[in-house]
Order: sequence, then structure tokens, then C-alpha cells
Amino acid sequence: MSTSSPTGNIESILHEDRVFPPSEEFRSRARIGDPAEYERLYRESIEQPDAFWSRIASELHWFEPWENVLEWDCPSAKWFSGGKLNLSFNCLDRHVASARRNKAAIIWEGEPGEIRTFTYQQLLTEVEKFAAVLKSLGVQKGDRVALYMGMAPELPVAMLACARIGAPHSVIFGGFSASALVDRIHDCQATLVITQDGSFRKGTEVKLFPVVEEALKSCPTVSNVIVLRRSGTPINMQSGRDHWWHDLMAASNKNAKPGTPAEPLDSEHPLFILYTSGSTGKPKGVLHTTGGYSVGTYLTTQWVFDLRDDDIYWCTADIGWVTGHSYILYGPLQCGATVVMYEGAPNHPQPDRFWDIIERHRVNILYTAPTAIRTFIKWGDDYPNAHDLSSLRLLGTVGEPINPEAWMWYREVIGKNRCPIVDTWWQTETGHMMLAPVPGVVPTKPGSATKPLPGVLPEIVDKDGNPVPDGQGGFLVIRRPWPGMLRTIYGDPDRYVQQYWSQIPGSYFTGDGAHRDKDGYFWIMGRVDDVINVSGHRLSTMEVESALVSHPAVAEAAVVGRPDELKGQAIVAFVTLNHDHKSADRLPELKEDLRKWVTKEIGALARPDTIRFTEILPKTRSGKIMRRLLRELASGNEVKGDTTTLEDFSVLARLKEEE
Ligand code: WT7
Repeated sequence: MSTSSPTGNIESILHEDRVFPPSEEFRSRARIGDPAEYERLYRESIEQPDAFWSRIASELHWFEPWENVLEWDCPSAKWFSGGKLNLSFNCLDRHVASARRNKAAIIWEGEPGEIRTFTYQQLLTEVEKFAAVLKSLGVQKGDRVALYMGMAPELPVAMLACARIGAPHSVIFGGFSASALVDRIHDCQATLVITQDGSFRKGTEVKLFPVVEEALKSCPTVSNVIVLRRSGTPINMQSGRDHWWHDLMAASNKNAKPGTPAEPLDSEHPLFILYTSGSTGKPKGVLHTTGGYSVGTYLTTQWVFDLRDDDIYWCTADIGWVTGHSYILYGPLQCGATVVMYEGAPNHPQPDRFWDIIERHRVNILYTAPTAIRTFIKWGDDYPNAHDLSSLRLLGTVGEPINPEAWMWYREVIGKNRCPIVDTWWQTETGHMMLAPVPGVVPTKPGSATKPLPGVLPEIVDKDGNPVPDGQGGFLVIRRPWPGMLRTIYGDPDRYVQQYWSQIPGSYFTGDGAHRDKDGYFWIMGRVDDVINVSGHRLSTMEVESALVSHPAVAEAAVVGRPDELKGQAIVAFVTLNHDHKSADRLPELKEDLRKWVTKEIGALARPDTIRFTEILPKTRSGKIMRRLLRELASGNEVKGDTTTLEDFSVLARLKEEE
């Protein structure tokens, strides 16, 4: 990637000094529009957190009030302990009892073009019925339910029904393979799977049920499967185990009036498990609980999106990732927002689908990812320019660092220089946004996630935990607990402590490198561990490596990321072969074979972009693969820095020859 290209290089954030304050028009109408007032609120959140969080939490409904705002025994946090609440109640019943009852909660658009709208009352009715269905299949409070679906409106219905009865859900992104599904279902010991026949993307059907069918051959804990009919494709249902969604709902309609009340749950009752990649091969089941997560997503949705009651809000993420959990579903619905949800691809039937959706639904707030923005730049300005985007008031990004060139394009071509951009930094583990501008009061800078949100105390430190001077790079850590923080890694409390709280004792280790500028703005430089970010999707290099070495032809594999203009990072695999697989004429075929293999083992999102066969991998004397050297090689850079620990110096020369 070169700095002169239209989309530019992430390095260019190092030289960025433009500042964009909110327009007077935006500021004067903003929820929070007085910088001094915001400064006071942030200070209160740090100095008197109990008072601050009590006030925010009491805007939600509690069956029983909390006793303590926070009990902190590092690294174990309890927020709002003693309190009882239900997130499904706060998303639905609370609004149904108010003037929002007949307001649209979800406006869903299928890829083929159909539109379905659910008012808060309608959504509640569906959720009550489905909660009764779950109970009728024996799902009890605390039981884990796995969801493997596309972006159908029934996915939020299922999640809210789980939350209603206190059964933690684990949503598994529809792009994962059967074997990835097995790992996750096995890890959380789910007893029920909810899926659909298929979903639509790019004009074709993405088959989902057959993947579940395959996975369930190795998932003895699962006794029931609920299948939503979406694509209408014929499927092989196993009698006694597999049930149609619509049959169960019809029966529930008859039996379960007036519905299933929301169970009062302890504030620390598990809400969901979401698997994410860490720096080892095994995905981590990030566990979130009810009270703190509710309050954190509620506050950040309202403040960062400057949400108003008449807004139409659209987050383009897939619900299979945390962004969808927090900012399609739980944050916006707690705020009583109207959410647009879209099933398919951005280029179906044409590359203007997003702009068409914004124009037709009069979307006011758009939240998307840098990788999508860079793709739109590539497709050309004619597509957005052909649509009336004047309804937009605010734009957001999430998932990876945004290069200033893409930021400026978003601002000019989509936002017509009117709309503030909120670049929001957070993680699956943080549950909700951590660094982001409150748009009426924090001027933005292209490429910076700006400043900490209330209650968040970030710092840039060196490897010993000492703060580094402003302007100098270091590790981003968080100095104290926040409401939506993960509580543990499901089934692996030691890994929770070791991953997040041991690297810099007493602080939460984010795994990101960053620096803070003289104005106190944070600039995220990317991961410092063996995690790569491909199109905003997090992948562990070791996960891809273990998929590769499980192939009979592969002896060893080392996987690294290289900068990619569209995806942020692309996957490069260096592979050594077993000697009986080295015949040169079969190598191109083998490359394709390995790509398919990884797709089967993990999913298409982990498919290597480049595979390089090599005779040998660079290792230290202690036998560790030197990924840093491979990263340099893969990026086309000169190999710099210390190579003195290389076990065999000739390796470097040989790898270069093999290019
Ligand atoms: C990692 C977390 C948060 C939901 C989506 C991803 C990177 C995320 C930003 C941003 C720079 C960002 C970080 C982080 N990241 N947002 N605004 N600027 N980098 O969640 O899969 O848990 O990944 O994504 O590297 O650690 P995730």
C-alpha cells in the first residue's frame, strides 16, 4: 500500500493535524452541547462514579434497586450488585408502557427487497411468544442457547427472548464453518440451537441449516434445534430434534396468553457469551452480564449517537459480532430508537444499496466500518451521489483504525461536510464504546477515536506499566473497571486473569498500541499481539496456523498480516510442506486446496490471501517462529531490526529468494 494511493496509508495518521469542531447548527441542537458541562460530567464519572452511574442506571427499570454501584476486587467486578432487572424488559415492556408503544422498533429490509416493520408492541408480542417456546422446549434460566442465523428479524426476537428468561445466548456469525460451530457449541455446552434454512447475500442463498446439521454430529449436548424458514430451500429435518420456528410459534400462540413475563434477574446474571479470537488458537468465550452491560450500552448509544426520539438509526454490522449486539439491538432498543436492519450485501443488486436504503428510509444516523468505507471509495462517488443523503445527521465508524483519507471521503461525500463523524474504539471485551467523541462537544480529528467516554480511564504505558509521555507510542490500558466490561472467559477464569489483568498488573490490557497527542486525543495504531484485523474481523494468526497444519501436506505454518488497502490487513501464510507433497507441478493446486481447507476449518473470513511455500521458517534458537521478520517480508519491507537471535541466518536470504 503506498501513501500516494487514493485511500492512503494508516501511517498517515502520524502526520494528521486537522481539527473539525461540530457545526453551530449541530451543537446548538445536540443532547450535550456545552463543553464545560461535558467536562463536568466526565470529571464526575471519574471522581464520584457512584453518583454518576446511579443517576444513569435509574433511567432504566429495576425490579429491585442495587445496593452497591461497584464491588471491585481486581479483576473481579460486580456492578449494581443486589439489583434485579431484565434487559428484554428495558428494551420492550418499558416502551410499551409509554408513548413509544406504537413506534417502529425495527425496520427490517431483506436483500431481495421486502420490508417488515415491528413496532415495540409487536416486537414484545413476538418475544413473549418465543420466550414461551424456549421454555416449552425445556430451556431454563442459565441454560446456554446457540444462535446461528443470518440477519433475519427473528434473530433479535430470539436474543430478546433468551434475555427475557435469563438463558445466556451465544450468537455465532453465519460465516463460520461447521467445525468452528462445534468448538463454540462444545465450549459453552449449549442445549438448543436456533438457526434458519438459509439467508440471502449477493443474490444467492447462504445455507445455514446444513452447517448446523453437520456440526451436530459432534455436539452431544444439543437436544433441540429451532429452524426459521427464510429461503424456502428444502432441508432434512430430524424428527424429535428439529422444529420449525413457525410451528412452535403457532402452538405458543394458543397456549401462552398473555405472554411470558420478564424474569427479574440479578444484575450479574450472565447475558451472553460471544466468541472472539485471542492470541492463541482457541477462541475466547467473552462473558457479559446484565446490569453493567445494560447501563453502559444505554449511555453510550444515547450520548455518542446524540440519539433523538424521532431518529432513524442504522448500524450496518452483523449481529454475529459485538457491534450488532450492543448497537443494533441492546443499546438502541433500550433508548427506544427506531433501528434499520438489513439482511444482505452492500452491492446487491447494485453498489448503491446502502445509499438507496438511506434515501428510502430517511436514515439520520449511519454506523459502519472503515473497510466498508474504503470499498465504497473504490466503487466510486457516482453511487452515493445518485442519492439524496440529506437525512443524515451523524456518521460513525468502528472496528479498525480509519485512515484520514477514508475519513475525509466519508465526511465530504457521504456527510456533505455537515455531519460529525464519531470514530468509536472498543472491543468485544469492553461491551460498549470506550473512546469516542460526544459529537456536540468534542471536536474530531481524522483518524483519532478522540477521548475517553464517562467512567473510562485510559492510559498509554510501556511494558512495565509506566505512563509514556504524550506523543510517544505504547500499550493502551484501562486503569479501572467500567460497567460493560467482560466478567470472565467462559469456563477459563485463569485465561481471563492472564490475558487481561496480568500483563500490566492492576490494569486492563487491551492488546492495542496507541499514542495520545498534546490535546489528550487517542490514536490507535493496531494490535500488539498475534491478532490480526481483516475487514474489521478479528482473527488469531495461531487459529489460522493450526487450521493449516491440520492439512496432511503441511509440516509447519506461520501466519501474519500485511497492510491491505481495502481490508486493513490481509492474511499471508508461510507454509513448509511434508516432503512427499513437494512436487512443483502440484503446488498451485495445493494452494487452492489449502485455502478451501481453512474455509472449511474456520470459515471464509480466515481464508489466506497469499500462501507462500518455503523450505524453512525463521526461528529463534529456542524454536519460536520470528513473526516480526515474516511481517516485514510479507509487507514488502526491508527486514530491519535485530535478527541476531535467528537460528539459521541463511533462512532470511532463502525466504527472499523464494519470493
Ligand atoms: C479490536 C477489537 C468494537 C467492535 C468491533 C471490533 C480494533 C475497534 C477501533 C477503532 C481503531 C479499532 C482494535 C480493537 N478497533 N475499533 N475505532 N479504531 N481500532 O471488535 O472484534 O473485539 O476487535 O478492533 O484493535 O482491539 P473486536
